[in-house]
Amino acid sequence: MEQLTKQWIVDISVDNLVSNSHIVEAAHELVSQQVVAFPTETVYGLGGNATSDLAIERIFEAKGRPADNPLIVHIAERAQLKDCVKEIPPLADKLMSAFWPGPLTIVFKHNGNLSKRVTAGLSTVAVRMPDHPIALALIKAAGIPLAAPSANRSGRPSPTLASHVNEDLKGKIKGIIDGGATGLGLESTVVACTEDKVTILRPGGITKEDLEAVCGHVFYDFALKKEDEAPTSPGMKYVHYAPHAPLTLVEGTDAFLHKTAEAAYEKGLRVGLLVTYDYQFATKVHKKVVMGSRDDLTTIAHNLYEALRTFAEGEVDVIFSEVFPEHGLGRAIMNRLKKAAGGRMVTESDN
Ligand code: TXA
Ligand code: MG
Repeated sequence: MEQLTKQWIVDISVDNLVSNSHIVEAAHELVSQQVVAFPTETVYGLGGNATSDLAIERIFEAKGRPADNPLIVHIAERAQLKDCVKEIPPLADKLMSAFWPGPLTIVFKHNGNLSKRVTAGLSTVAVRMPDHPIALALIKAAGIPLAAPSANRSGRPSPTLASHVNEDLKGKIKGIIDGGATGLGLESTVVACTEDKVTILRPGGITKEDLEAVCGHVFYDFALKKEDEAPTSPGMKYVHYAPHAPLTLVEGTDAFLHKTAEAAYEKGLRVGLLVTYDYQFATKVHKKVVMGSRDDLTTIAHNLYEALRTFAEGEVDVIFSEVFPEHGLGRAIMNRLKKAAGGRMVTESDN
């Protein structure tokens, strides 16, 4: 059933956002178990009261998200942890002091107070404190922890602008707070924390190197390693971040990317290219999207999802993308690109 989706434009530079009339109205909707999209420093989130089964049901429904994929709970101050978690391991304490508010999500044992739908029936819950004035003000104004997955239809690239949220969810949610472009452009890093070990479950804005500077050696989850080494085969069960045409990653020189794109063009396909200034070249392609320069991964991360969304439905038949070195922020960028490509990759050394 279609509903009116309210649009609240909020200027992030004004003082006292907690009492801003749009924030107050959006918070009221959240307390009433409705769902509302809001900006964070990573991507736009679709927020709902984390203690309400009805609100969480509405999130899954609007996104078309499989119910076995748990959500991240967002808090505005540390005191709210007691609403969600059973205990705080010392290592988690250290990480929170170093990186909150910020793009780090920590998995804790939950205390049973949250909706079971948030945690997909697990004994753990993922929590983060976003570093964005609107997100923090909204959580404070609502006075409840907010479950918030990225505010896209399941399978599509995450939204970094309010217009992306409108594209995917207008008519399906109560409202959207438009606070302009998000900062980082990729989702938070998700970590699990035991007594003496930090494991990265999802790479993101806080890199392995950032974490190691605070808590010694950090591990990548086995499943993540496997996923990255042997990308999931095309046609996998859950598609992520998918553009409107099949994406293939091209590993190698700019000349090899050029040759690969041109071969598809010669076959009569409408070719899209996702590249940096450094891999840009004059060739016959239907559409070229430039994300920034290779030596500035911060800009690439910021522009990636917007770039994936730039190829309109039916505009091209295939998209080829350049790849990036997998360290620092490059790890998170490649994790998203590999998922967006559903495992399609060609490598120069194989050709
Ligand atoms: O930057 C972000 O994290 C954004 C913004 C809106 O805050 N949110 C976001 O949420 O990306 P979502 O729901 O799209 O991603 C949740 C991620 C998934 O990879 C999920 O598997 C993991 O967090 N996750 C959630 N709960 C978990 C748990 N209990 N144990 C392990 N992983 C969990
Ligand atoms: Mg998501």
